[in-house]
Amino acid sequence: MKIGIVSASTRINRISHRIALSLNKELEQRKQNPQLIDLKEWDLPVFEERIDRLENPEKRLLDLKNLLLDCEAFIFLSPEYNGAIASGLKNFMDLYAKEPFMHKPIGVATGSTGAMGGIRAAYQLQQNILTIHGLPHPRMLTVGRMHEVLNEDGEVLEEAFGNTQAKFLDLFLDFAQRFES
Ligand SMILES: Cc1cc2nc3c(=O)[nH]c(=O)nc-3n(C[C@H](O)[C@H](O)[C@H](O)COP(=O)(O)O)c2cc1C
Repeated sequence: MKIGIVSASTRINRISHRIALSLNKELEQRKQNPQLIDLKEWDLPVFEERIDRLENPEKRLLDLKNLLLDCEAFIFLSPEYNGAIASGLKNFMDLYAKEPFMHKPIGVATGSTGAMGGIRAAYQLQQNILTIHGLPHPRMLTVGRMHEVLNEDGEVLEEAFGNTQAKFLDLFLDFAQRFES
Protein backbone atom coordinates (compact mmCIF):
# COMPACT_ATOMS: atom_id res chain seq x y z
CA MET A 1 0.00 0.00 0.00
CA LYS A 2 1.34 3.44 -0.92
CA ILE A 3 1.38 5.43 2.30
CA GLY A 4 2.59 9.03 2.37
CA ILE A 5 4.39 9.92 5.58
CA VAL A 6 4.19 13.68 5.78
CA SER A 7 6.88 14.96 8.13
CA ALA A 8 6.24 18.47 9.41
CA SER A 9 9.39 18.47 11.50
CA THR A 10 11.29 21.25 9.77
CA ARG A 11 13.18 22.93 12.61
CA ILE A 12 16.99 23.26 12.57
CA ASN A 13 18.28 20.25 14.56
CA ARG A 14 14.84 18.69 14.37
CA ILE A 15 14.04 15.63 16.44
CA SER A 16 10.47 14.57 15.56
CA HIS A 17 11.61 13.70 12.07
CA ARG A 18 13.07 10.59 13.72
CA ILE A 19 9.50 9.35 14.17
CA ALA A 20 8.89 9.70 10.42
CA LEU A 21 12.13 7.82 9.70
CA SER A 22 11.16 5.08 12.13
CA LEU A 23 7.65 4.71 10.67
CA ASN A 24 9.17 4.60 7.20
CA LYS A 25 11.53 1.77 8.18
CA GLU A 26 8.74 -0.18 9.90
CA LEU A 27 6.41 0.13 6.91
CA GLU A 28 9.17 -1.04 4.57
CA GLN A 29 9.75 -4.05 6.81
CA ARG A 30 6.05 -4.78 6.58
CA LYS A 31 6.34 -4.82 2.76
CA GLN A 32 4.34 -1.63 2.39
CA ASN A 33 5.30 1.20 0.04
CA PRO A 34 5.91 4.26 2.23
CA GLN A 35 6.64 7.62 0.59
CA LEU A 36 8.46 9.98 2.92
CA ILE A 37 7.25 13.51 2.19
CA ASP A 38 9.68 15.70 4.09
CA LEU A 39 8.25 19.22 4.29
CA LYS A 40 11.71 20.53 5.14
CA GLU A 41 12.91 19.40 1.73
CA TRP A 42 9.79 20.56 -0.11
CA ASP A 43 10.13 24.02 1.42
CA LEU A 44 6.59 25.06 0.47
CA PRO A 45 5.76 28.76 0.07
CA VAL A 46 3.72 30.46 2.77
CA PHE A 47 0.07 30.02 1.83
CA GLU A 48 -1.33 32.49 -0.66
CA GLU A 49 -4.07 30.44 -2.33
CA ARG A 50 -5.17 26.84 -2.84
CA ILE A 51 -3.14 24.94 -5.43
CA ASP A 52 -6.04 24.66 -7.88
CA ARG A 53 -6.64 28.40 -7.79
CA LEU A 54 -3.04 29.53 -8.25
CA GLU A 55 -2.55 31.03 -11.69
CA ASN A 56 0.94 29.71 -12.35
CA PRO A 57 1.88 27.20 -9.68
CA GLU A 58 5.50 26.09 -9.71
CA LYS A 59 5.95 22.68 -11.35
CA ARG A 60 7.36 21.23 -8.14
CA LEU A 61 4.14 22.14 -6.31
CA LEU A 62 2.13 20.25 -8.93
CA ASP A 63 4.58 17.34 -8.69
CA LEU A 64 3.84 17.13 -4.98
CA LYS A 65 0.11 17.24 -5.66
CA ASN A 66 0.48 14.29 -8.04
CA LEU A 67 2.52 12.40 -5.47
CA LEU A 68 -0.21 13.01 -2.88
CA LEU A 69 -2.97 11.94 -5.29
CA ASP A 70 -1.07 8.71 -5.82
CA CYS A 71 -0.97 7.85 -2.10
CA GLU A 72 -3.72 5.58 -0.83
CA ALA A 73 -3.27 6.58 2.80
CA PHE A 74 -1.18 8.96 4.89
CA ILE A 75 0.45 9.38 8.25
CA PHE A 76 0.85 13.01 9.29
CA LEU A 77 3.71 13.61 11.71
CA SER A 78 3.95 16.86 13.65
CA PRO A 79 5.89 18.20 16.61
CA GLU A 80 3.79 20.11 19.14
CA TYR A 81 4.61 23.81 19.16
CA ASN A 82 2.89 25.99 21.74
CA GLY A 83 0.12 23.47 22.18
CA ALA A 84 -0.61 23.19 18.46
CA ILE A 85 0.47 21.42 15.29
CA ALA A 86 3.45 22.77 13.36
CA SER A 87 2.41 25.71 11.21
CA GLY A 88 4.14 24.08 8.24
CA LEU A 89 1.67 21.20 8.38
CA LYS A 90 -1.30 23.55 8.42
CA ASN A 91 0.25 25.45 5.51
CA PHE A 92 0.63 22.15 3.62
CA MET A 93 -3.01 21.17 4.28
CA ASP A 94 -4.32 24.58 3.27
CA LEU A 95 -2.36 24.48 0.00
CA TYR A 96 -3.39 20.96 -1.08
CA ALA A 97 -6.76 20.17 0.53
CA LYS A 98 -9.05 18.62 -0.10
CA GLU A 99 -8.76 16.48 -3.22
CA PRO A 100 -5.62 14.44 -2.43
CA PHE A 101 -6.89 13.54 1.05
CA MET A 102 -10.56 12.93 0.30
CA HIS A 103 -11.88 9.75 1.93
CA LYS A 104 -8.36 8.45 2.58
CA PRO A 105 -7.22 6.94 5.90
CA ILE A 106 -4.84 9.26 7.74
CA GLY A 107 -2.88 8.32 10.85
CA VAL A 108 -1.79 10.92 13.39
CA ALA A 109 1.70 10.91 14.90
CA THR A 110 3.08 13.63 17.15
CA GLY A 111 6.20 14.06 19.20
CA SER A 112 7.70 16.12 21.94
CA THR A 113 10.77 16.00 24.13
CA GLY A 114 8.47 16.25 27.18
CA ALA A 115 6.39 13.47 28.65
CA MET A 116 3.09 14.27 26.95
CA GLY A 117 4.11 13.42 23.38
CA GLY A 118 2.28 16.34 21.81
CA ILE A 119 -1.19 15.14 22.76
CA ARG A 120 -2.76 18.59 22.25
CA ALA A 121 -1.40 18.76 18.72
CA ALA A 122 -2.58 15.19 18.10
CA TYR A 123 -6.21 15.90 18.98
CA GLN A 124 -6.10 19.08 16.93
CA LEU A 125 -4.70 17.21 13.98
CA GLN A 126 -7.55 14.70 14.09
CA GLN A 127 -9.97 17.61 13.76
CA ASN A 128 -7.96 19.16 10.93
CA ILE A 129 -8.00 15.83 9.09
CA LEU A 130 -11.78 15.64 9.34
CA THR A 131 -12.02 19.14 7.94
CA ILE A 132 -10.02 18.18 4.85
CA HIS A 133 -12.32 15.13 4.45
CA GLY A 134 -9.68 12.59 5.42
CA LEU A 135 -10.48 9.67 7.70
CA PRO A 136 -8.42 9.96 10.89
CA HIS A 137 -7.64 6.71 12.66
CA PRO A 138 -8.70 6.81 16.33
CA ARG A 139 -5.41 5.36 17.60
CA MET A 140 -2.73 8.06 17.58
CA LEU A 141 1.03 7.68 18.03
CA THR A 142 2.06 10.29 20.59
CA VAL A 143 5.77 10.02 21.32
CA GLY A 144 7.08 11.55 24.54
CA ARG A 145 10.81 11.86 25.31
CA MET A 146 11.36 11.25 21.62
CA HIS A 147 15.07 12.11 21.81
CA GLU A 148 15.47 9.18 24.24
CA VAL A 149 13.35 6.56 22.47
CA LEU A 150 14.71 7.08 18.93
CA ASN A 151 18.17 7.86 17.59
CA GLU A 152 18.93 10.27 14.73
CA ASP A 153 18.45 7.55 12.14
CA GLY A 154 15.03 6.66 13.49
CA GLU A 155 16.21 3.47 15.16
CA VAL A 156 14.25 2.41 18.21
CA LEU A 157 16.21 2.70 21.48
CA GLU A 158 13.47 1.59 23.90
CA GLU A 159 11.59 -1.66 23.49
CA ALA A 160 8.42 -0.25 25.04
CA PHE A 161 8.27 2.45 22.38
CA GLY A 162 8.91 -0.13 19.66
CA ASN A 163 5.89 -2.09 20.90
CA THR A 164 3.71 1.01 21.01
CA GLN A 165 4.70 1.96 17.48
CA ALA A 166 4.10 -1.59 16.23
CA LYS A 167 0.60 -1.62 17.74
CA PHE A 168 -0.18 1.76 16.16
CA LEU A 169 0.87 0.40 12.76
CA ASP A 170 -1.02 -2.89 13.23
CA LEU A 171 -4.23 -0.98 13.85
CA PHE A 172 -3.61 1.69 11.22
CA LEU A 173 -2.84 -0.84 8.48
CA ASP A 174 -5.87 -2.92 9.39
CA PHE A 175 -8.00 0.24 9.06
CA ALA A 176 -6.30 1.57 5.91
CA GLN A 177 -6.41 -1.74 4.06
CA ARG A 178 -10.20 -1.77 4.34
CA PHE A 179 -10.21 1.20 1.95
CA GLU A 180 -7.77 -0.32 -0.55
CA SER A 181 -9.15 -0.34 -4.08
C1 LIG B 1 8.46 26.87 19.28
C2 LIG B 1 8.41 25.68 20.19
C3 LIG B 1 7.28 25.43 20.93
C4 LIG B 1 7.19 24.28 21.72
N1 LIG B 1 6.02 23.98 22.36
C5 LIG B 1 5.89 22.78 22.96
C6 LIG B 1 4.62 22.35 23.44
O1 LIG B 1 3.63 23.04 23.34
N2 LIG B 1 4.53 21.13 24.02
C7 LIG B 1 5.63 20.31 24.15
O2 LIG B 1 5.49 19.20 24.68
N3 LIG B 1 6.84 20.68 23.70
C8 LIG B 1 7.00 21.89 23.09
N4 LIG B 1 8.22 22.27 22.60
C9 LIG B 1 9.37 21.39 22.79
C10 LIG B 1 9.41 20.37 21.65
O3 LIG B 1 8.76 19.17 22.07
C11 LIG B 1 10.84 20.02 21.22
O4 LIG B 1 11.56 21.20 20.94
C12 LIG B 1 10.86 19.11 20.02
O5 LIG B 1 12.18 18.76 19.71
C13 LIG B 1 10.18 19.77 18.82
O6 LIG B 1 10.18 18.92 17.70
P1 LIG B 1 11.23 19.15 16.50
O7 LIG B 1 12.58 18.84 17.07
O8 LIG B 1 10.82 18.19 15.45
O9 LIG B 1 11.13 20.57 16.09
C14 LIG B 1 8.32 23.40 21.81
C15 LIG B 1 9.46 23.71 21.07
C16 LIG B 1 9.51 24.80 20.26
C17 LIG B 1 10.73 25.03 19.41
